[in-house]
Amino acid sequence: MLSEQMQNALNAQIKIEAESSQVYLAMASFAETQGFEGVSSFMYMHSDEERQHMLKFVKYVNERGGHATISELSKPPLEYGSLKEMFEELFAHEVKVSKSINDLVHISLQEQDYATHNFLQWYVAEQIEEEALARTILDKINLIGDDKGGLYLFDRDVQAITVQPSTGPAV
Ligand code: FEO
Repeated sequence: MLSEQMQNALNAQIKIEAESSQVYLAMASFAETQGFEGVSSFMYMHSDEERQHMLKFVKYVNERGGHATISELSKPPLEYGSLKEMFEELFAHEVKVSKSINDLVHISLQEQDYATHNFLQWYVAEQIEEEALARTILDKINLIGDDKGGLYLFDRDVQAITVQPSTGPAV
């Protein structure tokens, strides 16, 4: 059985994952309107992944006898000054998500809730991958600068990036 504090913290994370999905969906739509097909498909895929992250939490909370609550979400930014700015935002967002996952791990240890601690390990590993991927993409775009031809190749490069399918517990 989840403690009230653990349940509230997990429910807060459900909202964060849902908002991540919205943020990346808005990025996908923006990139699509700018003609960056590769970046756009990457973001659509990433948005789907975040929804899966959210669903895993929902299922887990309910499985442990809690009630996963679905919240109102804040509106994501709809436009960015440049692709570089957009990927900087993506990286900063993932760093924030990693921090909130770490906070959850901390609570689970404080409460000696080893089942939740174990469940969270998948997210800890996932955040390492997500931050590394965002950093790799940022490095590429920093190399290109504002060169139009470079951006075209960058777009194709991002399309080629295969994001690992999720290997966590089935939802
Ligand atoms: Fe679910 Fe990208 O963190």
